[in-house]
Amino acid sequence: MKLRWSHAVLLVRDMEEMIGFYTKVLGFEVTDRGPFPAPDANGAEIVFMSQVDTDHHQIAFVDKKRDGNPPNSVDHFAFRVDSLDDVKLMDKQLAEDGRVENRLPLTHGNAWSIYFKDPEGNGIEVFCDTPWHVQQPQGTIWDRDKSNAEIADETRRGFESEARFGPIEDFYAKRASELKDR
Ligand SMILES: [Fe+2]
Repeated sequence: MKLRWSHAVLLVRDMEEMIGFYTKVLGFEVTDRGPFPAPDANGAEIVFMSQVDTDHHQIAFVDKKRDGNPPNSVDHFAFRVDSLDDVKLMDKQLAEDGRVENRLPLTHGNAWSIYFKDPEGNGIEVFCDTPWHVQQPQGTIWDRDKSNAEIADETRRGFESEARFGPIEDFYAKRASELKDR
C-alpha cells in the first residue's frame, strides 16, 4: 500500500482574508463550500480549493478558530490510497497497533475515509476515491464490516440524489478541460 499526499484542511480565523490570499495570490480556485459536516461544527463553514485536475481540493479551510482556539491550525492532513481494500487494511493496522483510540469511517460520497489522530494529536485522513463525484461537503458513516460491494451500493444509494452526483471520471475530465487553458 502507498499513501500519496492529497490535501490539508486548516482551521482559520478570517475565512474571506484567507480565501482572498489563496485565490488571488496563490492561484487557487474555490471548488465547493458549505456547512462543515461535524457535530461540533458550531456554524462553521468549509471552503475547498484546488488548482489541479487530480484533486477536488488540495487545501480547505474551516472557520473554526475563534478567539485563538483551538491553538493549532491543523484539522487534518489527507493521503490517498488506491482502493477500499487499502483503506480497510489501514484501519486494521491501526486497530492492531492500538495507539489510535478513535478511528472514524466517513464517506463524502466521493471518498471512503478513515479519520484518526496521530500520537501528537494531528488529524489524519486515509482515503480512496469512490466511483462517483458529488457536491461537497458531505459526510456519513460507512460500515467497515460490510463487503466492498455492499459499501459501494449503500454509498451510491445514499448520495445519488445529491447535487452534481455522477461518475468521478467525468468530474476529473471536466476539471482537466476547465484547467487546460489557464
Ligand atoms: Fe479531507
